[in-house]
Amino acid sequence: MISSVSVDIWRLSLADLADRAPALRWCLSDSENERAERFVFERDRTRFIACRAILRGIIAQNLNIGPADVVFAYGEKGKPFLEDHSLFFNLSHSHNEACIALSASATLGVDVEHIRPPTRNRWIDLAQRFFSVAEIQALSDLPERLQSKAFFACWARKEAYLKLHGLGLSLPLDQFSVNVDPDAPAKLCSTEWRPEDIGQSVLYDLPTSPGYRSALAVAATGSVTINNTVISGIESFPFFEKV
Ligand SMILES: CC(C)(COP(=O)(O)OP(=O)(O)OC[C@H]1O[C@@H](n2cnc3c(N)ncnc32)[C@H](O)[C@@H]1OP(=O)(O)O)[C@@H](O)C(=O)NCCC(=O)NCCS
Repeated sequence: MISSVSVDIWRLSLADLADRAPALRWCLSDSENERAERFVFERDRTRFIACRAILRGIIAQNLNIGPADVVFAYGEKGKPFLEDHSLFFNLSHSHNEACIALSASATLGVDVEHIRPPTRNRWIDLAQRFFSVAEIQALSDLPERLQSKAFFACWARKEAYLKLHGLGLSLPLDQFSVNVDPDAPAKLCSTEWRPEDIGQSVLYDLPTSPGYRSALAVAATGSVTINNTVISGIESFPFFEKV
């Protein structure tokens, strides 16, 4: 287990990148391009292409190869990873915001959530179906006007932890607890599923555009240094000069 870890975070505004997406397809693999074709909505297609291309660009820069030469392998539940290099990453997108996390030394999970108003169900009703007993209690104790922000803070923290382990929803969401207070630093409070993770995994809230919540989970026992970069264009990637 790594004690001191550095993580690079890249925050992308997908609205700014969307119209460049078609010209970025050249660096995607055949299977990524086939996947892009399967999206029903153009908006989802361009978001996927932009995220994959920038992810490839960031990894390529680190490995000193071309973005089209990055080869992804996939875990049992779909988590992408690099088979031949010690470089860890994870990606998340929600609405117009995306986040890529990269580390040379520690496994990661990252999540971004667009804060939406409740529709048919109140957030507390959804929490009661999916969150742990401690999280439901903490959310119920908050005044209703704070519950959207708290719900999405909790969700982003939980999902980052899920994504760290790459297990998707095969890990029951009520088998671990994070803190719910959106204004307190993120914390993994308990995990019945894997008790040893307390002290071996750390959670952080990440900065976002207004209206989003984002969290990072890192497999680390000691301090984590987080370096934040915001990308609004692709100009910072020399590989994409030909676009
Ligand atoms: C992939 C998963 C982990 C998250 O999906 P999501 O929230 O829809 O999407 P995100 O944008 O955060 O993450 C998607 C990215 O994570 C990566 N990813 C895919 N499977 C993954 C996995 N099992 N573990 C970690 N990362 C994964 C991919 O890079 C993917 O990007 P892509 O779609 O461009 O290929 C999915 O298994 C899932 O459905 N999770 C649960 C959703 C939920 O209800 N959460 C409630 C939390 S309280």
